[in-house]
Amino acid sequence: TPAVGLVEFRNVTFGYPGAERPVLDNVSFTAEPGKTTAIVGSTGAGKTSLINLIPRLYDPQQGEVLIDGVPVSSLTRAQVSSVVGLVSQKPYLFSGTIASNLRFGRASATDDDLWEALRVAQGEDFVRNKAKGLDDPISQGGTNVSGGQRQRLCIARALVAKPRVYLFDDSFSALDVSTDARLREALGEVTGDATVIIVAQRVSSITDADQILVVDDGVIVGRGTHEELVERNETYRQIVES
Ligand code: GTP
Ligand code: MG
Repeated sequence: TPAVGLVEFRNVTFGYPGAERPVLDNVSFTAEPGKTTAIVGSTGAGKTSLINLIPRLYDPQQGEVLIDGVPVSSLTRAQVSSVVGLVSQKPYLFSGTIASNLRFGRASATDDDLWEALRVAQGEDFVRNKAKGLDDPISQGGTNVSGGQRQRLCIARALVAKPRVYLFDDSFSALDVSTDARLREALGEVTGDATVIIVAQRVSSITDADQILVVDDGVIVGRGTHEELVERNETYRQIVES
């Protein structure tokens, strides 16, 4: 049966190998298809650690991460990757071309698919301005494009793969406020009934999320909409005001 993309954390506790204390402590939440779940919290709170458990970059010591009710621990990384698209906090480009980077994970994508993903990711203009367009070279690590361009290419790469679950780890922070807003609006139109999880530094990026999780020192200390959290969550208020 095709994946729906319902993500569930059940009492997840996770510590890095060799570390004394866990970075996530008894985390439980559900992220639903067709909805946006945002994760906020101060630096070092555990946001990246949390999101990286979904594609099995690490496995928790206790509890379970499930997709559509199936523990991801029972799936191979390749199986998880076919459902989950992660745009990591340090977006990585390979040596090759813009096109080969965007087709990573879905070799059958047409040029039209790539341009459509670039349109949504707000990367269309800068790629059109490249001498060879989609065939312009990318050096290893993407050092020949700017940080913001790298971020947008990695967002486009995720869109090309059309996963059921999108994970954006602080993917919009290198963008200026208006590009960020345009990107999120376009994203909302194409992600449709997929599950979207966004880690955000800039709270203005996620005030319209269906659900916001506030993470502090590895624990979920608040959950709700922006309005609900502003009213009743001190940690969230501090993040909003900072
Ligand atoms: P920002 O991205 O800065 O906003 O932080 P974050 O909320 O994403 O925190 P993250 O999950 O990266 O880190 C949570 C804790 O885990 C911090 O104390 C980190 O120092 C620690 N940590 C992160 N990555 C590793 C790792 O690869 N190994 C070890 N041992 N600790 C790590
Ligand atoms: Mg992080």
